[in-house]
Amino acid sequence: MNITIINGPNLNLLGKREPGVYGTASFDDCLADLIKNFPTVHFTYFQSNIEGEIVDAIQKAGFNQDGIIINPAAYTHTSVAIGDAIAAIQTKVIEVHISNVHAREDFRKISHVSAKAVGSIVGLGLQGYALATEWFVSNANKQ
Ligand code: DQA
Repeated sequence: MNITIINGPNLNLLGKREPGVYGTASFDDCLADLIKNFPTVHFTYFQSNIEGEIVDAIQKAGFNQDGIIINPAAYTHTSVAIGDAIAAIQTKVIEVHISNVHAREDFRKISHVSAKAVGSIVGLGLQGYALATEWFVSNANKQ
């Protein structure tokens, strides 16, 4: 099965960025674990700090992948365009946030993505990406 992971702004700095909030592992570490632990899944990974590039990546993956796992980072809280892109595609999307956005500043409680996603995994660290993958793998035949 084919899963595209899309990460938004500043997630390229995972491991160095606010380790007390986001941990000390880089996303490369996380991706290596996903590839090892889900041998039947072909992962495509895309990260961008630019909103329009994330919209392009959603559209690109939106009609030919079995699942999209997206962490739009700060754009979660601001981007109508990313929410609209998720609504426009056929591929199911799971929203992941490493930190518990509901336990942080009020502006992080707003998501333009949650209502368009099949579900959201929030506050479980990088393990959220594995849990989202697990959902796609175990629901593959039901989609
Ligand atoms: C984040 C939460 C967002 O509020 C923040 O802007 C991020 C990361 C998370 O994964 O916890 O950059 O999406």
